[in-house]
Amino acid sequence: MKKFYLTTPLYYVNAAPHIGHAYTTIAADILARCKRLRGEGVHFLTGTDEHGEKIEAAAKAAGKTPQAFADEYAAKFSGLWPKLCVSHDDFIRTTEPRHERRVQAVFETLLKTGDVYKGVYKGFFCVSDETYWTDTDAPPDEKGRRLCPNAECRKPLTPMEEEAYFFKLARFQAPLIEHYKAHPEFLQPPHRANEIIRFVEDGLHDQSITRSKFTWGVPAASAPGHVVYVWFDALLNYITAAGYNPPGLAQADASAPGAFEALWPADVQFVGKEIYRFHAVTWPAMLMALGLPLPRTVFAHGWWTVEGAKMSKSKGNFADPMEFAAEYGADAFRYFLFREMPFGNDGDFSKEAFKKRYNSELANDLGNLVSRVSQMVEKYLEGILPETQPSGVSLAPEVLAQAPAVAKAIDDLAFQEALNLIWAVVRRLNEHVDKQKPWEKAKTDPSAVPGVLFDLVWCLRAVAVWIEPFMPQAAGRMQGQLGFTSPTSWDCEDVLKGPCGARVRKEAALFPRK
Ligand code: ME8
Repeated sequence: MKKFYLTTPLYYVNAAPHIGHAYTTIAADILARCKRLRGEGVHFLTGTDEHGEKIEAAAKAAGKTPQAFADEYAAKFSGLWPKLCVSHDDFIRTTEPRHERRVQAVFETLLKTGDVYKGVYKGFFCVSDETYWTDTDAPPDEKGRRLCPNAECRKPLTPMEEEAYFFKLARFQAPLIEHYKAHPEFLQPPHRANEIIRFVEDGLHDQSITRSKFTWGVPAASAPGHVVYVWFDALLNYITAAGYNPPGLAQADASAPGAFEALWPADVQFVGKEIYRFHAVTWPAMLMALGLPLPRTVFAHGWWTVEGAKMSKSKGNFADPMEFAAEYGADAFRYFLFREMPFGNDGDFSKEAFKKRYNSELANDLGNLVSRVSQMVEKYLEGILPETQPSGVSLAPEVLAQAPAVAKAIDDLAFQEALNLIWAVVRRLNEHVDKQKPWEKAKTDPSAVPGVLFDLVWCLRAVAVWIEPFMPQAAGRMQGQLGFTSPTSWDCEDVLKGPCGARVRKEAALFPRK
């Protein structure tokens, strides 16, 4: 059975993780958790990108070997994810032998098939972006300088001429266009697709994929003195980590038969918009050259600024995910990132907006509702739900009917839409409590109270399942308070049947006001 396979970019190990890295990784985690809750086999890959001139230079500046430097920073990423409740199944480092050996075998394979050939590279290189540019990509400006064409970078380029190996990217122009047209779900979201299609239609150049001026990379066996270009190396991680056995890979390094096919092709690959060309053009062309199927969707999301400014080394304004998780909890951080802006757009991360949403939507709308309902069950029913649903008006059918829509929104990567649907339910339940006034009914019509509370608990149980992908810890605590554990079904039927006569108890606030 093929698993649902999803990936994040591999993050460079030259800087500590910030909210941008957390954003992509949590997006993948939300989808992974939602699929698992619905009974699908899932494989979720993340990791670190550790080779190249940029890392070599950063290590040198820090007075460390590149490997020691990479070890230190890779540990910052792998150590952060559990604190943010990220449930990845694998963490690949591009310095691991399982990756390096496969990269070497891929290089040899493509050299044999002719999709990699030897030539001379003349052009410009941006150390900061690890990107090559041609004469036409980066014409001199009015002062005669050549600057990185990437609007986010604009650093001076280094001119270079060296013997290099090239990947025949140009030959894939027509097959790529054909694939984009035949598979509209491949390039997502649609507004980014147009950009890519135009770029490819304008014509592609073969790409230099080896370097010989430094050594921190995967050595190309048939090309002594050359290391594989960091992007060519890093993109391959999505198949090397999945156990791809290229022709020529030593038997001892090979994965078990069928292991790769159980994962590949990837179902969703998440990346930021600035690396979309690599993932939407170079990467599928590499797969075509290897005769492998292409991922179903490569999704490029937007960028966060922080307090209105781009995060940058010079400004030193990298927002540290741990700072927010420590103060508000990982759940609140995860919630904010996906409630604040539609996935795919750009947005701004501000402390004030964070606190506002925390207090009004988490502490008030949800946390307070759970406290009120569980407190009333304790007060009026001694904490025990009736064995069966009392008769009377029930909101449950209407609430439960939302299950497929919430799941669909998450499957469509419309995370904000999913949260909007869940919060519409939360608000509806708050209104219901205010209208029903169980505390008054307890005096005027006590026989009606169990029905109202039973119904509210049922509806809240559904909410506690649907928030799990976004807020796994709060979901677990909420489920505990509402007298059930380990939901097994997204549509909540089994959850609602629940243990009869379950104990509901008020516990500490899910989201204490700040
Ligand atoms: O590009 N807003 O690694 P990287 C949102 N190693 N997301 C952001 C962000 C921001 N301000 N800043 C970073 C690389 N990201 C390569 C990738 S893949 C084979 C190699 C996220 O450490 C976003 O996912 O620069 C972006 O694409 C990624 O971090 C870049 O991470």
